[in-house]
Amino acid sequence: MKFFIDTANLAQIREANDLGILDGVTTNPSLMAKEGIKGKDAVTAHYRTICEIVDGPVSAEVFGTSFEDIIEEGKVLAAIHKNIVVKVPMIKDGIKAIKWFTDNGIPTNCTLVFSAGQAILAAKAGATYVSPFLGRIDDSCWDGVELIEQIVGIYNAQGFMTEVLAASIRNPLHIVRCAEAGADVCTCPLSSILGLLKHPLTDLGLQQFLADAKTMQ
Ligand code: E4P
Repeated sequence: MKFFIDTANLAQIREANDLGILDGVTTNPSLMAKEGIKGKDAVTAHYRTICEIVDGPVSAEVFGTSFEDIIEEGKVLAAIHKNIVVKVPMIKDGIKAIKWFTDNGIPTNCTLVFSAGQAILAAKAGATYVSPFLGRIDDSCWDGVELIEQIVGIYNAQGFMTEVLAASIRNPLHIVRCAEAGADVCTCPLSSILGLLKHPLTDLGLQQFLADAKTMQ
């Protein structure tokens, strides 16, 4: 399973990248706005910087919702760097646009996916990635991991090439459960990635080893 970081914060992207286990980045308009990025030039510069930090796919989301606007914006985003993946919302014009990008060799990430039916449509249109938002599903008292399992099962049964990118990760257990479910990619906040490191027995064991090591010096 590949690890993407789900943020537009450059310090966090650098920290995750320095771990050596980062495969890519996803952003969305909320994450970009949180970093105070305003205006087309600033957006372009920010994506370029992210692409310079991480050598892997970087999802950049379109703001438009009509086919024409999505295509226009997607072309501009894709021209920023070879690693840009155009992130397109799961709407009717979005599906049409994903098919257009597929036919024109531009990678896509179909976002805001909450059902297996939507994931089938995204795959039919040739999306490179499909992003089911499992945390938001859990927030509404449904089981997000079940959806990941269902989509993975359908894609395997049908031979779809679209990669399942588990998104809206809330904690380290989500990452473990996505790995069990067979997700191709998990896009996570830095806190969830670092959360994977934690175990009290590791801390206690290390304390003891360090204390014993001192007696040997
Ligand atoms: C997906 O790529 C989105 O950026 C993201 O995972 C949404 O997560 P949230 O539900 O924490 O906003």
